[in-house]
Amino acid sequence: MPFSLPTLPYASDALAPLMSKETIDYHYGRHLQTYIDKVNALVAGTEFEELPLDEVVRRSEGGLYNNAAQAWNHIFFFDSLTPQSKPVGTGLHALILRDFGSVEAFREQLCQRVLTHFASGWVWLIMDCDGKLAIVSTQDAQSMLADGVTPLLTIDLWEHAYYIDHRNRRADYFEAVWQLIDWEKVENRLNLNLFDGL
Ligand SMILES: [Fe+2]
Repeated sequence: MPFSLPTLPYASDALAPLMSKETIDYHYGRHLQTYIDKVNALVAGTEFEELPLDEVVRRSEGGLYNNAAQAWNHIFFFDSLTPQSKPVGTGLHALILRDFGSVEAFREQLCQRVLTHFASGWVWLIMDCDGKLAIVSTQDAQSMLADGVTPLLTIDLWEHAYYIDHRNRRADYFEAVWQLIDWEKVENRLNLNLFDGL
């Protein structure tokens, strides 16, 4: 089965004005579609053809890895946004307090990583191998799909993510994305057992 563009969990104009319909149409509708088309072309007739996308990312390298990781990262990013963002839920909140001190301190660290990451890439909130929350960034297409690591949230730092709405102002883009994060989904990505003993 060829990979196809998933349906967004919100209307293409639902995130405006924080993220415009034009950005969604280009970023989701064109950039992501292009990565998916390239993955389909590269896996055709190979051992990757029947694998789910995350397995293609885990097992591939080179051009297929770059396109599959970009596709997976984008789907994960857009699935982390909502027009009805609510405050961080109690379980995730407890982990943020434990590992960052406060939601505000976490937000500041996330923002700094967004602003200081050089060139294209992704900023992530992950649960690392030791069960701790951590903020990391990856270059270009690199994903955080790895054994023992749970990706919880990612923010696209490629210029195409923000140039239509914010031109070169990455800080403004971060402020907009922060207001759109679906914390319920982020929390659901945690293994609920991790909350035991907090
Ligand atoms: Fe992107």
